[in-house]
Amino acid sequence: MDTLASTTSAPRPPLVKGLPVIGSTLNMGKDPGRFFVDCYRQYGPIYRVKVFGNELTVIAGVEAATFMNTREGKECLRSREAWEGMVQEMGMTKNLVSVDGDVHKDLRAAQKWGYSREAMVGRYNKVLDITSEAIARDWRVGTEIPVVRTMQHLVIEQLGTILTGRAPREYVDDIRTTIMYMLNVLVVRMRPKFFLKLPEYRRAKARMMQLGRDMVADYRANQATRQVTPENRTLIDDIMQAHERDPELIPEQDVPWMIAGPYVAGLDTVAMTTSSCLYMILKHPDIHRRMREEVDALYSQGPVDEATYMRSLPITNNVILEAMRLYPIAVAQVRVANKDFVFAGHQLKERELIYLGTAVPHFQHEFYDNPEKVDIDRFDKPRAEHLKSGAYSPYGRGPHTCLGKSMAEVILVMTMSKLIYELDMELPTPDYELKTKAVPTPGPALSFQIKVKGRRH
Ligand code: HEM
Repeated sequence: MDTLASTTSAPRPPLVKGLPVIGSTLNMGKDPGRFFVDCYRQYGPIYRVKVFGNELTVIAGVEAATFMNTREGKECLRSREAWEGMVQEMGMTKNLVSVDGDVHKDLRAAQKWGYSREAMVGRYNKVLDITSEAIARDWRVGTEIPVVRTMQHLVIEQLGTILTGRAPREYVDDIRTTIMYMLNVLVVRMRPKFFLKLPEYRRAKARMMQLGRDMVADYRANQATRQVTPENRTLIDDIMQAHERDPELIPEQDVPWMIAGPYVAGLDTVAMTTSSCLYMILKHPDIHRRMREEVDALYSQGPVDEATYMRSLPITNNVILEAMRLYPIAVAQVRVANKDFVFAGHQLKERELIYLGTAVPHFQHEFYDNPEKVDIDRFDKPRAEHLKSGAYSPYGRGPHTCLGKSMAEVILVMTMSKLIYELDMELPTPDYELKTKAVPTPGPALSFQIKVKGRRH
């Protein structure tokens, strides 16, 4: 790839043709994933887009996925400006997503274990039980379920159980509201700043901060008597120990929001992915039948064995992989140019906003056979289409790649397998087509509902 870290006489990236004044705002706002794919076909791996009166540069396709993992990519891109509004609103000095280089490396290392699958060891059956209880309570037979919102409730309970051994049920709406407002106003910037003054948000944020502070206070109250073991150690232990070791890296004011980090990172990502996945399953009776056979065989045997759990559900795993290919929640990773550089023969300027469209290959026939078609067998060997270099990036690329990936994989499998095992569900009509939304996280529209026809188990 022709990437030079310098200013040259190289031309600026081509500007995508759009409407006068509003440019590509409508097309990009409607379906950003599809828009980036169409532009890639027409303009290649780098182009400029006019949205909301501003211009931003898009680097897309396998070129973007590859670039992000290279040393040059790490030198040319930074995250701070993309996230700093949210960091300030939280009153933090810094946050994992907003820092780069050595500080990012140290912060990531401090929390690596707490976000890993190992941090769930000894808790699989508890998380499965919580999932079943939430399904029995919130997915009532004979009712129509607003899928996204109900999934959001479920994932907060699951993350709370993993993080503290307890589901923070009384805070579910506060967490949902706080994160929605912050993402909409400060990250995707699709809502005006004054939204952050609305009483609904202010109340929810104050309660969410209180939840973070309470978790810190609980930790400190039990610190003297509590024996940390591999079974009860959590992300909170990692963060508190790192804070005590190096208060410059993690100052006191950052601790409560860092502890609430999994809710911020996991709420919408998991809720949108599981909602899309449920649509895909109910839309394809053959996939639904294959999943039922698989989950019935596993759960009819009682509590699961953690060592073999993920391996026992290969079809469920493939269904989730396919949902994440077709409905990626991160159609682009947002960065700023850290310096002037040339990419694919085009000049980029320091501080300009760059969208990295790493999910573009998900929809290209160069990587996937019949990419528009739902095909859960494309991930099995010998095809393994997603393993082609740069072809599959649902968890992002580069140094900020999802830290919760392996934990998310287990939560996704637990959620989908339990829903299919326990409930008989259907779409509102057999020819129902999913409506999607683009912000704050791409995924099914909040109006997406399914019918619960009965309980299977
Ligand atoms: C379907 C599930 C999920 C998907 C698709 C997903 C996707 C992503 C993506 C694309 C990024 C990179 C963002 C960027 O570069 O700007 C990211 C970062 C991150 N994710 Fe996830 N995520 C998921 C679930 C989770 C969960 C459940 C957790 C926590 C328990 C989590 C924790 C994180 C963290 C901490 C980061 C920031 C990493 C860093 O900045 O170094 N994610 N995720």
